[in-house]
Amino acid sequence: MDTRLNGSVVFVTGAASGQGKATVGLFAEEGAVVIVADRHGAAAEETAEELRAGGHDAMAVEVDVADAEAVNAAFDAVVGRYGRVDVLVNNAAVGFSENARLTMANVVDTPLEHWNAILAINLTGPALCAAAVLPRMAEQGSGVIINIASINGLVGLTGADAYTATKGGLIALTRSIAAEWSPRGIRVNCICPGGVDTPMIRAIVENPEAKKAMSATTPLGRLATPEEIAAVSVFLASPLAGYVNGAVLPVDGGYTAV
Ligand SMILES: NC(=O)c1ccc[n+]([C@@H]2O[C@H](COP(=O)([O-])OP(=O)(O)OC[C@H]3O[C@@H](n4cnc5c(N)ncnc54)[C@H](O)[C@@H]3O)[C@@H](O)[C@H]2O)c1
Repeated sequence: MDTRLNGSVVFVTGAASGQGKATVGLFAEEGAVVIVADRHGAAAEETAEELRAGGHDAMAVEVDVADAEAVNAAFDAVVGRYGRVDVLVNNAAVGFSENARLTMANVVDTPLEHWNAILAINLTGPALCAAAVLPRMAEQGSGVIINIASINGLVGLTGADAYTATKGGLIALTRSIAAEWSPRGIRVNCICPGGVDTPMIRAIVENPEAKKAMSATTPLGRLATPEEIAAVSVFLASPLAGYVNGAVLPVDGGYTAV
C-alpha cells in the first residue's frame, strides 16, 4: 500500500505556529502540496517560504477562519491554482495564550463579546472551512477532513468554558459531517490533543512548576511535541486510515484513560 500523500493538496488552518506549522512540515515531507493558512499572513508566508526552500510545494494564504467571505476566497484561490483540495485540517483556534485579548474563564467571568468571538473562530471557523470544501470533495468523490479539538471537549476541565464548549461542539460536528458526507467518499475525523508544547500554552511551558504539574497529570509524564500530533493527522489523511471515519481520537499521553 502506498502510504505517502504524493501530490495531495492539504489545507491546514492556523499553520503559521505550533501544531499547524508542524503539520504542514510533516505533510510536505510526505510529498503533499501544503496550503499554509493563517490569519497572520506574514508568518504564513514565512512558513511557506521555509518549506519551498526545502524543495516542497507550499502556498501561503492569509485568512481569518471566522470570516465566511475570506474563507471562500481562500479555497477559490487554492482550487484556482491546484484544481482541488484533498485534505482539510481544521487546526486554527484561539486559546489560553490569547487571554489578554479574549478572556479564558468560566461562564460567569467571560464577557459575552469574548464568548462570541471564541465561538466564531474555534467552532464557526471549522464549519465555514468544511462548508467551503465539502461540495468540492463530493464532486471529486474523495476527501479527508481532520478537526483538531482537545481533551477539553472530552472531560470536564475548568478555566476556559468558551474554549471547552467549542471543542465539544467540534467533536459533535465531526460526527454529523461524517454521517452525511461519507457516502460521497469523504472521511471526517477528530483529534483531541492533551497538553502540547506550543505557543498556545506558553504560560505553562515557560513556567517550570506549571509545566511539571501539567506533565504529572498524564500517564506518560510529559507534554506532547507538535510533531506527535501532526503525525496523527498524516496517518488519518493516508490510505492507512481508509476505514477510520467519524472517530474521535485522544492523543493525550493517556490523560483521558485514567
Ligand atoms: N497546545 C495545546 O496544549 C493544545 C491542546 C489541545 C488542543 N489544542 C488545539 O490544537 C490546535 C493548534 O493549537 P496550537 O497549540 O498549535 O496553537 P498556536 O497558538 O501555536 O497556533 C494557533 C494558530 O492559529 C492561528 N489562528 C488563530 N485564530 C485564527 C483565525 N481566526 N484564522 C486563522 N488562523 C487563526 C494563529 O495565528 C496561530 O498561528 C488548536 O485547535 C488548539 O485548540 C492545543
